[in-house]
Amino acid sequence: DRTQVAIVGGGPAGLLLSHLLHLEGIESVVLEHRSQDHVQSRLRAGVLEQGTVDTLRDAGLGAGMAARGMPQTAIDFRFGRRSHLIDFTHETGGRQVMVYPQHEVVTDLIRARLEAGGQVWFDTPVTQLDDLTTSRPVVHYEVDGEPHQLRCDIVAGCDGFRGLSREAMPADARTSYDRIYPFAWLGILAEVPPAAPTVTWGCHESGFAMLSFRSSTVSRLYLQCAPDDKPENWSDDRIWHTLHERLDVDDMPPLIEGRITQKGVTGMRSFLSEPMQHGRLFLAGDAAHIVPPTGAKGLNAAVADIRVLSRGILDFYRRASTDVLDQYSALCLERMWLVQRFSAGLCTMVHQFPGQGAFERRLQRADLDTLTGTHAGRLAFSENFTGLPYAI
Ligand code: FAD
Ligand code: DHB
Repeated sequence: DRTQVAIVGGGPAGLLLSHLLHLEGIESVVLEHRSQDHVQSRLRAGVLEQGTVDTLRDAGLGAGMAARGMPQTAIDFRFGRRSHLIDFTHETGGRQVMVYPQHEVVTDLIRARLEAGGQVWFDTPVTQLDDLTTSRPVVHYEVDGEPHQLRCDIVAGCDGFRGLSREAMPADARTSYDRIYPFAWLGILAEVPPAAPTVTWGCHESGFAMLSFRSSTVSRLYLQCAPDDKPENWSDDRIWHTLHERLDVDDMPPLIEGRITQKGVTGMRSFLSEPMQHGRLFLAGDAAHIVPPTGAKGLNAAVADIRVLSRGILDFYRRASTDVLDQYSALCLERMWLVQRFSAGLCTMVHQFPGQGAFERRLQRADLDTLTGTHAGRLAFSENFTGLPYAI
């Protein structure tokens, strides 16, 4: 078999790349390890930057967002028993974000690819990448345990943090930066109308919690827990008690409790691997970088990479130019380090660190006061939260 662009991984990064290339008449195959059902039901991120929304809409994928997306103009930081609203749309002169779940983005992308006759191969694990520094790389994959090969011009490594693409780069050709945080998030889905109209962050002395939502009848909530915690350690009563403690304040209505339908623990790390290119292999999304979910940047960062990569591949075929592809890593990393800074900074500001002393706690409070109580603080947050400018 052969194609122009072999895309390893059918998450948001791989599927969006395949769709954008298709719009430009470039052929690709997406090889996805898991089943279609699995990738469409995987519960993950929820907040799309203005630029992510625009990118998807411009690519003809706006219908689901228009029908079910929930545009947001403000975020509520709760601490010191009070609510502190940042109106990021006002601060940025009109930029918004949208709550629209990642699995819906993935579902929209898969539908668009399949309707256009696109090649998205599910249940197809990639096992090895070869000849990456030649003009004819080879992707080895399996179907029902049988080995196969796909030849291509370009390989896009969109296989997430635990994929194999990053490891296919020689160890001495890359540098990893890694920080693991000493806590995790327990995420729940509850059948209850959101208790507040905005995403709400509870920055409490007993730990962090967040209220977000998925629809007018479903809330998505998170709470800081131990890094090795298990959902089984958290009874529904304990969850609601902890969420009330961290999110309720004197000047807003309390949380509303409801039936919990899902519980899961997400570990928290900052990670980045440089460079994002090796020969004809280009890493994008979680394959190259992980951010802690404070800031809601993981999916949005993947979209930023794909914008650059799709343009680079287009120039490669249309103009026989590798100018953008040669700059791919540098263009992505410059923005990505700013995203890392924002995500790590928020993560450090709002969580309670084990063994943290009173001095650190007061500094965190001063950071929160600066964030919400000064124009400079609100503006910097708002520019980052709604999305920094793209390289391309
Ligand atoms: P992925 O979505 O990870 O997609 C990679 C795909 O590659 C997967 O479908 C995988 O099955 C496939 N794959 C892996 N190995 C192979 C192989 N060898 N062969 C073929 N296919 C392969 N971000 C937020 O902003 N907020 C959140 O609340 C949040 N929660 C998260 C919870 C979890 C459990 C995880 C893992 C991530 C979360 N994120 C969150 C981050 C966000 O979901 C990711 O940044 C986003 O999914 C990145 O998209 P991607 O396409 O790069 O990678
Ligand atoms: C979600 C919202 C956020 O603001 C965030 O930082 C992480 C996740 C969510 O809705 O899932």
